[in-house]
Amino acid sequence: MGRADTLPSVIQGGMGVAVSHWRLARTVSKAGGLGVVSGVGPDLLIARVLQDGDPGGDARRVLADYPDQEFVTRTLDRYFRPDGLPDGTPYRPIPKLDLHQKPDAVRLTALGAYFQVALAKEGHDGPIGINLLEKVQIWTPAALLGAMIAGVDAVLVGAGVPSHLPRLLDRLSRLESVTLPIDVAGASSESTHEITLDPTEAVPGLAPSLPRPAFLAIVSAHVLAAYLARSDDTRPDGFVIEGPVAGGHNAPPRRPALDETGQVAYGPRDVVDLTKVAATGLPYWLAGGYGTPEQYVAAREQGAAGVQVGTVFALSAESGMRTELRDSMLRSLADRTLDVRTDGRASPTGFPFKVVQHAETVANPVVVGQRERICDLGYLRTPFEREDGSVGYRCPSEPVDAFVKKGGDVDETEGRLCLCNGLLSTAGHAQRRPASGGLTEEPPLLTLGQDLDGARDLQARYPDGWSAADVVAWLTGHLART
Ligand SMILES: Cc1cc2nc3c(=O)[nH]c(=O)nc-3n(C[C@H](O)[C@H](O)[C@H](O)COP(=O)(O)O)c2cc1C
Repeated sequence: MGRADTLPSVIQGGMGVAVSHWRLARTVSKAGGLGVVSGVGPDLLIARVLQDGDPGGDARRVLADYPDQEFVTRTLDRYFRPDGLPDGTPYRPIPKLDLHQKPDAVRLTALGAYFQVALAKEGHDGPIGINLLEKVQIWTPAALLGAMIAGVDAVLVGAGVPSHLPRLLDRLSRLESVTLPIDVAGASSESTHEITLDPTEAVPGLAPSLPRPAFLAIVSAHVLAAYLARSDDTRPDGFVIEGPVAGGHNAPPRRPALDETGQVAYGPRDVVDLTKVAATGLPYWLAGGYGTPEQYVAAREQGAAGVQVGTVFALSAESGMRTELRDSMLRSLADRTLDVRTDGRASPTGFPFKVVQHAETVANPVVVGQRERICDLGYLRTPFEREDGSVGYRCPSEPVDAFVKKGGDVDETEGRLCLCNGLLSTAGHAQRRPASGGLTEEPPLLTLGQDLDGARDLQARYPDGWSAADVVAWLTGHLART
């Protein structure tokens, strides 16, 4: 029996930054699904939650069981503000992770991932997963370590080719040192760039081994599934097969094209051949427009182990989106004006990204025009090699001059949005900065999938809103209430 064979048939997809935080994942898991916390920006989130006063004491409660109490004490001293930050005070910056894995930056990342998973797992026996993006590789080993210390049951990785993950998880579970090669733009063939993490050095006081979670690769092409399944070194325990209507980032189409409305267009070559996925012998879950009971049944009839669903959870009561933003999307859903576009320019990763067209967000060019272009979080920066062989970092969403000075192509900057600050604002942790004439607060950025059928059905059933537990029961045909 494979590691993924016992995972539930409903997976609540990982949704960064903090849309799928521990409360949502815990609710889903208690209802019988696989609750998945987002592993994006765990270092920043724990620092900001503590600066917000850790209402309810949840973070401090689970941190009390973390093996490295010396680092917990230092973190609380540095970030915890019992009454939150005074109005208008900016959040403190945190040490940034880069190719030189600074010990405190590694420790904060591990602690942040531990915090999310430990809280999601608290008080029940259901499984919890963590979602990571191959595009933000530099955080991967430290975030995995923290999640594994908390006993994470599954790791789900997309946005790239996560071929190193199986061995990484094997080694981390035995507390062996891990090395991860890092993609560096313009690197000469002689140079190798990698990061190394020694678990026992990063987190003193660990138990002799950590449970090895199941690994699901999130892919959008059967060719990639077959490639990963071919070798023992790269074979995951299962797949999430994600189609182009899914929320968040999407894989680029095989043949780049835009439709008549300027959105990224997908064609027949983007349709996944499920018989080829099934031929790998590994279980798979279907994602992207599978958020209705009918689609759930259809997926199972096609041989899938189940479905991974995002949009209807992002709109649920336990969503990590700011309440007023979620409610305003629910109102637009009700009056049929909710519009989600597949934007080929918005994400600095260059991947298509689903953007909700909402006037108070950076989807509105007026809001973008009022925002100072700034890159102060840097999760989507990519490393590049300079002529002298040293490594720099750049992001097409940073100030244009800075990007071009680092050798970036000016055309790359057009239409790019700051996903880091936008998504953090959506999750209620917006950066505030002093500005001429007062304070500015980072505006939000909203993403959802384009198939809204499930959300509309749920709205008809639950006009005052629904819980993530309602979603699991509804999808699987076991309604909690009627
Ligand atoms: C708000 C939101 C944020 C998302 N963020 C991520 C993410 O950080 N990582 C990821 O792998 N998928 C992300 N997704 C995709 C979901 O995990 C899931 O695969 C997808 O939403 C399924 O399609 P559906 O929206 O049609 O249900 C996101 C989706 C939404 C709606």
